[in-house]
Amino acid sequence: MEIAFVPALFFILVLLPSILCNYDEILSSARQDKEWLTSVRRQIHENPELKFQEYNTSALIRHELDKLGITYSYPLAITGIVAQIGSGCRPVVALRADIDALPLQELVEWKHKSKADGKMHGCGHDAHTTMLLGAAKLLHQRQDELKGTVRLLFQPAEEGGAGALHMIKDGALGYSEAIFGMHVDYQMPTGSIRSLSGPVLASVCVFDVKIEGRGGHAAEPQSAVDPILAASFVILALQQLISREVDPLHSQVLSVTYVRAGTALNVIPPYVEFGGTLRRLTTEGLYQLRKRLNEVVKQQAAVHRCSAYVDMKDEEHPPYPAVVNDNNLHLLVEKVGRDLLGPEKVKVGNKVMAGEDLAFYQEQIPGVMFSIGIRNEKGSIHSLHSPHFFLDEDVLPIGAAAYASLAETYFSKYQHSLLR
Ligand code: NI
Repeated sequence: MEIAFVPALFFILVLLPSILCNYDEILSSARQDKEWLTSVRRQIHENPELKFQEYNTSALIRHELDKLGITYSYPLAITGIVAQIGSGCRPVVALRADIDALPLQELVEWKHKSKADGKMHGCGHDAHTTMLLGAAKLLHQRQDELKGTVRLLFQPAEEGGAGALHMIKDGALGYSEAIFGMHVDYQMPTGSIRSLSGPVLASVCVFDVKIEGRGGHAAEPQSAVDPILAASFVILALQQLISREVDPLHSQVLSVTYVRAGTALNVIPPYVEFGGTLRRLTTEGLYQLRKRLNEVVKQQAAVHRCSAYVDMKDEEHPPYPAVVNDNNLHLLVEKVGRDLLGPEKVKVGNKVMAGEDLAFYQEQIPGVMFSIGIRNEKGSIHSLHSPHFFLDEDVLPIGAAAYASLAETYFSKYQHSLLR
C-alpha cells in the first residue's frame, strides 16, 4: 500500500500542479518581460522597413537572439531568420511572425513615431515580431521541459511580397508538422483571441489592364476609337462576373481601384489604364475568376474596336492562396486561449476578404491563423493599414505567452495522440 501510495502522492503534489500551473507560469514570466518587450517593439516601430529591405529589423532580431543564447539560421528570403529551440527531435512545430512595414505615413503623434518618412508599422508586424522574440525567450527558459522542437520563423515581405513563399524555398519549415500564425485585431479588446476553422482569409491577386483605341479630337468621335467608352463597358461587365457567374453564397470580390486616361477636355486619349484586385475564399475559385477576367476584358474591348492587354503581375505580386485553418489546430488555439486567458476571452473568428501569406505554409503543412485583440479606449481603435493605427502594448506579453503556450500544448497533445 505504502509503495503504491508514494507515486500517487508524487503525482498529486509535484506533477499535477506543474501541469496545471503551466499557463500561469508562462504568462507571469512573460509579464515580467514587459519592459524589454516594449522597448524592442518601439525600436522596430521607430525604424520601419518595407518588404525585403528589413535589414536593420533583421539585425535587431538576431542581436536579441544572440543575447538570449538562441541559435538560428540566416539569411532566408534575404532578411528572414529561423531560430530553433527544444530537443532537436520530432514533433517539430513552427511559429511565424512577419517583420515588414507598410508604405504609409504615420499620423499618430507620439514619442516613438516612425522616423522613416512614408513608412509605418501600420499592420502590427512590429508587435508580431516582438511577441515571437518574447516566445523565444520563454521557450528557451523552458528548454529542458520541451518535448519537441520549435522553429521560430521571422519572415520578411508579408505585405504583397509573398515572403512566406521565399522562406519555404529556402527551407524555413524544415521538418515542421504544423504552423501557427497570429495577427493583431483592432476590433477585439486586448487580451482576447479569436479563431475559426476552415477558410478565413481570401486568395488574392492583382491585375493591370491597358485598353488601346485611337486618339482624336473630341468633336470628331467618328475619326477616333474611344478607349474611355470601351473601358467603361469593360469595368461594368467585370462586375457581372461577381453577380451572375458564381453561387452568391461563395464570397468573391473584384475591385477596380484606379483608372487613368487622358489629360485634356477636348481630346479622346489613345488608351486607358486601370487595375485592381480579385479575391475569393478558395484558391481554385481565384484562378477561375482570373481566367474570366482575362476573357471579358479582351472580348468586351473588342466589341468597341479596341485592343486590351491584361497583366496579372505574378512576378511582382504572386497570387496568395486562401488561408484555410486546420480544425485540430484551431481547437488547440481555443484550448490555449481558454486556459491561458480565460474562457470569456475566446471568441469565434470571422472571415475577411483580406489576404495573408501564411497560406503558402498551409499548402505544405496544416496551419492556423488566429487573431489577438489590441483594442483599448485609450486610442487603440483604428483599423489596420490606417495612418492612425495605434497598438495597445499590453498585448506584447500576452502574445508572447500565447505563442509559447501553443508550442508546448502542441507537444503535449501530440504525445497523447490527440492530433492524429
Ligand atoms: Ni498584417
